[in-house]
Formats: sequence, C-alpha cells, structure tokens
Amino acid sequence: EKAGYDHFMLKEIYEQPKAYRNTMMGRISDDGRSVVLKEIGMTAEQIRGIRKVHIVACGTAFHAGLVGKTIIEDLARIPVETDVASEYRYRSPIITPDTLVIVVSQSGETADTLAALREAKRNGARVLAITNVVGSSVAREADDVIITQAGPEIAVASTKAYTSQLIAFYLFGLYLAQTIGTRDTASVTEVLAAMNELPEQVERILDSAEVLKQIAESLAKHKNLFFIGRGVDFAVAQEGSLKLKEISYIHSEAYPAGELKHGTLALIEEGIPVISVITQEDLYEKTLSNIKEVKARGAHVLALVNAGNEEEVGKSVDELFSIPKTLPLLAPALSVVPLQLIAYYASLARGNDVDKPRNLAKSVTVE
Ligand code: F6R
Repeated sequence: EKAGYDHFMLKEIYEQPKAYRNTMMGRISDDGRSVVLKEIGMTAEQIRGIRKVHIVACGTAFHAGLVGKTIIEDLARIPVETDVASEYRYRSPIITPDTLVIVVSQSGETADTLAALREAKRNGARVLAITNVVGSSVAREADDVIITQAGPEIAVASTKAYTSQLIAFYLFGLYLAQTIGTRDTASVTEVLAAMNELPEQVERILDSAEVLKQIAESLAKHKNLFFIGRGVDFAVAQEGSLKLKEISYIHSEAYPAGELKHGTLALIEEGIPVISVITQEDLYEKTLSNIKEVKARGAHVLALVNAGNEEEVGKSVDELFSIPKTLPLLAPALSVVPLQLIAYYASLARGNDVDKPRNLAKSVTVE
C-alpha cells in the first residue's frame, strides 16, 4: 500500500501534485476567472459583514494558518489572527458575531481544535472548517466546510495535508476577495493561473530530491540548527523546523530573519547549519543581509531561493536550492516541499522510524 515507496511519508510527499490538482478541481470556473465554492453557505452580504477572522489549529495545521493569515489579509484586506487552539481557548478571545473563525484540522478530530470551534459557536461566530476528513467531528459541527482533497494521510508527519490546506486558503482568500471586491477579475485570474502551475512546479522540485538527500545527510550529524525567513518565508521556516524536529529528533529553531540580532546570533557558532528561506522579492535584500550576518559568524548556510536569484545569493551561502518562480503569495506551496524532503532524509539517515516518530500520535484526541 506504500505503492513502491519506502515510507508513507515519502509517498505522501510525492502525492502533492495530485493533491493540489484535486483540491483545486471543480473549485475554479471554466474560464479560470473566479473561484467557485459551492460548499460555502455564507451569502455575499454575510461575507461583506465579516470584520475579522480568527484562524485556530494545532501543529502543522497551525503553520498553514500562519500562511492563511497573510493570504486573507493580502487578498481580502480583513484583519486575521492565527492562534494555537490550546492557547486560544484559554485566553478569552474576543469573538463577536461578525468574526469568522476558521479551524484547520487534517483529521478533524483534534480535541483542542474541536473545543475552540465549540467556543467560537457559543459566542455567535460563524465557523468554517478546513479538513481532510469528510464526516469528522470538526466537519460535522462547523457551519461551512472546505474539504481538502489530499487523500488519506498515514505518516504521522503531515505533508500533503499541509500543502492542501494552503491551496484551500488560496481558494478561500480569492473567494472572499472576489465577493468583497478587494481584487478585480484580472487579479483573481492572475493568481488562479499561477496556482495552476503549482503541481508541475512541485514535480520539478521532487525531481531534484537527490540533492536534498545529500544536504540532509550532512545535516543529520548536527545537534542544533536554525531556520530563518521573513513574512511567509518565516511561516514556512516554522513548518520546516517542526518537520525536522518531529522525525529526525534534531533540535532546530525557526527565527524571523530580522530578529536574530536580538539574541539568537549568540548561538551562531562555527559550522552550525542555517537554512534560510528567501523567496519574497520585496524582503530579499533584508534577508540577504541577515544571511551575511550568520555567515560572517561561521554558519553553514543553505538558501532556498527563487530561480533567477541563484547567482547573487550564491555569493553569500554554502549551498543553494532553487524554487521555480511563482507569485510571492504562492511561494509557500513550493518552498515547503524541499524542507519536507530534508526532514525525511535526515530522519532516514539517523535510522529513525520515519512514519511513526517516538511519542507522537497521528490524531490527538486528548487536550
Ligand atoms: C505534524 C503534525 C501535527 C498535526 C497536529 C494537528 O506533522 O502532523 O502537528 O498537524 O497534531 O492535527 P490535525 O490537523 O489532525 O488537527
């Protein structure tokens, strides 16, 4: 049932192009100019009445929610807060009837996420669930549901579910934007056209897995490392760091690149690996200068860069991996893939049980 792959995780990483296509299928108009979400029961008037959005989730789904915040704020200009479900519940969040609460859960059974959903409903908010499991508790209790079409995810470390959640956020963000009028048809069309390219672009990244395997094998010898990035690159850095920790057991920390000099630089010593995600053109110079800061202190830097920027970034780093060019907002759907592969191969190099990491369960139904 692993279809020839050594592990479910690897199989699921390779299923991402299909998961992207399936999650988009039937949700884009035939002319490619608008998003069609028949599953959303909110009227246009209700959508225009949304004053703020809370995104609530755990773990990897929370990291998808961090990207979701940027997507919704950028496309629909509605303020968004993203919270970890186990924190949200106990911080008396200000939930009003004009708040849209989005819960994100692959399994749809995570206890804290479900409790947050119930808390949101008790306070009169409308709840949208993004989940991979039809008929799950979260799907049954939410007002609206977007099912990610990732197919069953068996490996404990989430990969295709995360990226399908990103696709769901792009679709929903565009849906809000076209309804509210924050983006015109030309702009929506442009994003949708770029989304259509993503599956094939992921395939190109997967074709370079061998390079990432070698990078991962040299990382596997280390005890500590850092991930850095700005904006959505920081959100992706956090997901890359979690993936690496949970299956390779290497300690890593994700840091906003500009925050390093406020303490973390003290930990940069000769030879420590720093993985930097640098896909956002408007933040490019800033992140590049942070890369130079760690490099000057002896770090061994790997950069994930946009195709076309290899030469310039290459001057300041030890290793490069290039990501096919897409719109800045869509970059997370590509840049996370090499990080998943690095985590996978680092875990393998350390002889760990990749699909069943110690102390972790696929579905967390205790609080
Ligand atoms: C990490 C991972 C976990 C889950 C988290 C939420 O790879 O799989 O962090 O993302 O436990 O699970 P769901 O999405 O089922 O609510």
